[in-house]
Amino acid sequence: MTSRIIGTGSYAPAQVVTNDDLAKIVETNDEWIRSRTGIGERHIAVDEGTSHMAVEAAKRAVENAGIDPKELDIILLATSSPDNCFPAGACEVQAALGAERAVAYDLSAACSGFLFALNTVNAFIQAGIYRTALVIGADCLSKLTDWSDRGTCVLFGDAAGAAVVQAADSGLKTMVMGSDGVKGPVLSCVARSEGNFLNGKTPQLGYMYMNGQEVFKFAVKKVPECVNQVLEAADMDIEDVKYFVLHQANYRIVEAAARRLKQPIEKFPMNMDRYGNTSGASVPLLLDELNREGRLERGDQIVLAGFGAGLTWGAALIEW
Ligand code: COA
Repeated sequence: MTSRIIGTGSYAPAQVVTNDDLAKIVETNDEWIRSRTGIGERHIAVDEGTSHMAVEAAKRAVENAGIDPKELDIILLATSSPDNCFPAGACEVQAALGAERAVAYDLSAACSGFLFALNTVNAFIQAGIYRTALVIGADCLSKLTDWSDRGTCVLFGDAAGAAVVQAADSGLKTMVMGSDGVKGPVLSCVARSEGNFLNGKTPQLGYMYMNGQEVFKFAVKKVPECVNQVLEAADMDIEDVKYFVLHQANYRIVEAAARRLKQPIEKFPMNMDRYGNTSGASVPLLLDELNREGRLERGDQIVLAGFGAGLTWGAALIEW
């Protein structure tokens, strides 16, 4: 017994911010951003947050799967930018869908979050504990971004992506997940509040910090490594993989992964030109795009892989 993705959905806020728009608030330009990252524009939330985006993506995934939300046993929301400390955004999704039977909670693994959540619900399904799951990756990093830091503010966008996963005979074949907390400080966002009445500190708003080159080196090494691991574990020839759906952080990272894996770049779909790096939403957003464009056929072998803050990384080999 394993689990199969039976429906996908995604959502991005209506407001599009182009590179030229950003050049009006920080010293940058379209040419620099495109040539270093592949990003042309991104969607930014104005009067909405992570939970709203997660709900919209979830509704679309449930509709695409053709199930009743009451069939859901578990809702897992992967986010590192929840609207609230509690209740969990997943509980807001549960309420909005009327998925009253489902247990709902959040999982924090940044840009690897969707992979971690998918692998977690798969473990529940394989163990026979749950049958039908909703996995969501949603992030609203625009609210954690220092909009005067050109090194980070040009990279990210807001969005949500979701998948309905159900017990099946074929589907998720092999997976790998990893964490390296020692390297955590290279990509971080400090707690929003560190004050209480004893320490006398004033509550603070934290912003994202990133050492771009360290993250780049980590990603270029880790992505091909974990892709090879899931293929080896399944005894699968890399030539049989139709698509590598990688976290959309930077087209140069995707190109480097393709080179190291000796695979044609056409097997690596990309959409960061239109969305930027949407963190936990990135992999399911791209997967939903491929699904709705009719580019995925039953039986296709697809590798998903994500990496990000933690540091964390994860991959899964799935049969569509
Ligand atoms: N516009 C124009 N210039 C910029 C800029 C911007 N938005 N951001 C940085 N620069 C400048 C720097 O200040 C630096 O100038 P200097 O040489 O005068 O000091 C120069 O460009 C080069 O900066 P550097 O950081 O070396 O660029 P880079 O080639 O490493 O590219 C990233 C920067 C962020 C695009 C790249 O490191 C990267 O993609 N890293 C991975 C990030 C990532 O994927 N994060 C998410 C992981 S989930």
